[in-house]
Amino acid sequence: MNHKHSTAWNSLSAHANKLQGRDLSKLVQDPERCASLRVSVAGCLFDFAKQLVTDEIVDALLALAKEVDLVGVRDRMLSGEKINRSEDRAVLHTALRGGARLSGNEIPQLVSHTQARMADLTHGLRSGERRGYTGKPITDIVHIGIGGSNLGPELVVNALAHQDDGRFRIHFVTNIDAHDLTRALHGLDPQTTLFIVVSKSFGTLETQVNADSARSWFLERTGSIEGLGDHFLAVTSNIDAALEFGLKEHNLLPMWDWVGGRFSLWSAVGLPIMLALGVEGFQRLLDGARIMDNHFAEAPLRENVPILAALFGIWNYNFLGASSLAVLPYDERLTLLPDYLQQLEMESNGKSVNHSNKSVDTHTMGILWGGTGTRGQHAYHQLLHQGTRAYSADFIVTSKDPYARSNHHNWLLANAFAQSQAMALGHDDDSAPYRNHPGNHPSTTVILDDLGPTQLGALLAAYEHKVLCQGTIWDINSFDQWGVELGKVLAKPIYSILDGNARAQEPAEQDAATRGLIDEILGPERASD
Ligand code: F6P
Repeated sequence: MNHKHSTAWNSLSAHANKLQGRDLSKLVQDPERCASLRVSVAGCLFDFAKQLVTDEIVDALLALAKEVDLVGVRDRMLSGEKINRSEDRAVLHTALRGGARLSGNEIPQLVSHTQARMADLTHGLRSGERRGYTGKPITDIVHIGIGGSNLGPELVVNALAHQDDGRFRIHFVTNIDAHDLTRALHGLDPQTTLFIVVSKSFGTLETQVNADSARSWFLERTGSIEGLGDHFLAVTSNIDAALEFGLKEHNLLPMWDWVGGRFSLWSAVGLPIMLALGVEGFQRLLDGARIMDNHFAEAPLRENVPILAALFGIWNYNFLGASSLAVLPYDERLTLLPDYLQQLEMESNGKSVNHSNKSVDTHTMGILWGGTGTRGQHAYHQLLHQGTRAYSADFIVTSKDPYARSNHHNWLLANAFAQSQAMALGHDDDSAPYRNHPGNHPSTTVILDDLGPTQLGALLAAYEHKVLCQGTIWDINSFDQWGVELGKVLAKPIYSILDGNARAQEPAEQDAATRGLIDEILGPERASD
């Protein structure tokens, strides 16, 4: 797509040129307009009233959606067409929660068979029927994985810890930095610890190194090779590599090439979620996501949450000059949400080549970052209110006070709403310009009626679908991630030098700047090797 030649794109540019001053401070005064920009799905109210859009701008954005055939792309994804063209794969994370529109396809059976195996494992482990190799019940789960094989389960287990009955202590190990594994293993008894190694490729360096060290830790303490079978499970699509690691086939749960890593928490990757919340809790998470899938597939475009969220994002990035999206949950339980969304949105849409293998002619995804309120108000909100760059923000709050100690919760909500108000309205102080707040910063507020599996499932699925919609408008493939490869390749020869194995591996010549860093680590004796 050539955006410069697009009628809808040009019309949006014209609308942007007409904006002046603090338009948002006027727009938020109109109750009818505000009411028309609120949509409720699965216990989540998405309030777009503080987006800098008029009715005409929404019309122009919807015209853009039509021009790029967003509905057609959505339907092609849901029906299992291979829309991930660079890898020639279908994109069917929706099939994991019954939200895909498949016909005559074996995928639903594969999914329910795997879910049944997950449920068996969960029942066995939770009831104590399935035990460690010395007969003791499992008390600690160590989940080893990185990126999409970590972020979703860790987010959900943390966010819903208030619904976890505490049957297991669940530890997440992700970084190749040994501190991560060491901290997780501290104080654990190998006889009561179960490792779940999660890697779609079973070739990711961090996960391999951590899994190898975990196995050594287990063997050093137990001396039992047979015991490995009771203490290591894997979730992977690379069965051979997992078998080579020493796992038995009955301890492997599948992943499939039609589920991208960052869309995989609904699959067996989410086993720790099921272990923490029980089978029913996991099912409710899937239910929430499926409700959002159905909404995405069926709601009119003007009331369609993922489509509106995507279009307002495009408006902010490409027409209002926003370079970032701040994700600001006002709920400590959602501390990991910005990290999770960082991978989802930035790995998906941080691209600069379009579907025709040409350079894109617009900006694509900006920086997604964030943190919980009110902590951030005493740190980076200064920049949000008085800095020079354009951005937009997503506020996520929960209406139900989890502790019924309402002064905390009412203050929390008051602060969230006041922050988006200050961002929208701004403030003038002629006598003291340093007190001025330029305002006019757009935001969306999502109010969850409670933080439960259904609401969280729906919320995460909305962001997933937003990714597809924005990628379609930018004309990029949201489902590959070639940009992570170069660094992996370059790390190997550097590792060989650091490891003193330079000649054996014939590492590539290093640039002087990198060589300087390596020499600093090696010290004067080894630097000349
Ligand atoms: O390096 C990026 C990436 O491939 C992510 O897309 C993925 O979620 C993560 O690494 C982990 O991959 P795997 O599940 O194959 O270990």
